[in-house]
Amino acid sequence: MNAEHRTTLVRPPARGTAGSATAVAYPNIALIKYWGKRDERLVLPVTDSLSMTLDIFPTTTRVRLDPGAEHDEVTLNGVPATGEAQRRVVAFLELVREQAGLPQRAVVDTGNTVPTGAGLASSASGFAALAVAAGAAYGLGLDATALSRLARRGSGSASRSVFGGFAIWHAGRDTGTATDADLSSYAEPVPAGELDPALVIAVVDAGPKAVSSREAMRRTVDTSPLYGPWAASSKEDLLGMRGALRRGDLDAMGEIAERNALGMHATMLAARPAVRYLSPATLTVLDSVLRLRRDGVPAYATMDAGPNVKVLCHRADADRVAAAVRGAAPGSSVHIAGPGQGARLLDERG
Ligand code: PMV
Repeated sequence: MNAEHRTTLVRPPARGTAGSATAVAYPNIALIKYWGKRDERLVLPVTDSLSMTLDIFPTTTRVRLDPGAEHDEVTLNGVPATGEAQRRVVAFLELVREQAGLPQRAVVDTGNTVPTGAGLASSASGFAALAVAAGAAYGLGLDATALSRLARRGSGSASRSVFGGFAIWHAGRDTGTATDADLSSYAEPVPAGELDPALVIAVVDAGPKAVSSREAMRRTVDTSPLYGPWAASSKEDLLGMRGALRRGDLDAMGEIAERNALGMHATMLAARPAVRYLSPATLTVLDSVLRLRRDGVPAYATMDAGPNVKVLCHRADADRVAAAVRGAAPGSSVHIAGPGQGARLLDERG
C-alpha cells in the first residue's frame, strides 16, 4: 500500500465562510462491521468497526451558500432529491448551520458513481463528501477528526470515509454526558503492515434495497436474540483484525472479516421479522469464493446491507478472483478496488 493511502488528504480550510466548496470522497467496505446503534440521534454505534476505503466509485459534492434562498436545494446525479434522501441532507445542513452559527440555506449538487442504496456504501462516500464540502462552505475550519464526527451524524459509515486506507471507527465512551460520547466517537487511520490488497466487488443486484440499513439495524438490536453474542464476538474480531493488519496477514484478515460479516447477517436472519439481504446469487458467489480457497487462492467474502459480495484478496490474484466470481454470477458487474484516499477538497478554480 503506498504512503499516500495511509494519510488523510483533508486540507482544513481557514476559518471564515468560503461560501462555496467542492469535495470528493470514496466509499469504504467494513472488514469489522458497524451494525447497531446505541443512540439514534447522535449516530453512536454499539461496537467499534474497521474498514478499507476504496479507490473506485467516488462521490463529488458541491455546496454553495445561497443567502437569498428560503430552502436548501439538493440535486442528486442531476435530479432534484426528494423524500428521505432530501430530508437527510437538509437535516445534516441544519447541524452544520448550528455549528457555524449561520442561517443561510445552500445549494447542494452531488454526483455519485456508485449505485445508490444497494449496500455499496453510497451513503459513506456521500456524507463524507458532504461533511468536507459543507464544513468548508460554512467556514467551520474542522480538522479530520472533527470532520469524521460530523460525517458520522449523516451516516455512521461515513465517519470512516474521511480517511484513506484502513480506518477504525471508535464507538466512543458513555462515561459522561452525551457530549462526551459524541466527542469520543470518530474514525482514525489504522497502521497496516506490508500488504497489497484488493476488494473484488460483485454487484449481483444494483437495485435499491427493500429495507434500509437504519431500519434493519434498529429491528436487529431490538428483537434479535443473536445480536448481543455477535456484538461481544465482534470485540475479539476487532483485536484479531488489528493484529492481522499490523502483520500484513491477509489470510487472518480475510478469515476474521468473513466470519464477522456472516455473523452480522445471522443476527438479521434471527430478527423478528427477519431481514434477509442475501439472495441466491449471493450464495452462488460465496460458493465460488470457497472453491477459490480450495484451489489455493486466498479469497474471503464480506457482505453489507444488500446482496452484493466483496471479496478480499491479494492484488496479484484479483483478476483470477474477478473471473471466478463473474463465472459464478453471469449478469453481475464485477469491479476491482484497491485502497483509496481520504476525503478531500477540490480546487474550485480548477
Ligand atoms: O452507515 P450506514 O447507516 O449506511 O450503515 C452501514 C452498515 C454496513 O454497511 C452494513 C456495515 C458497515 O460497517 O459499513
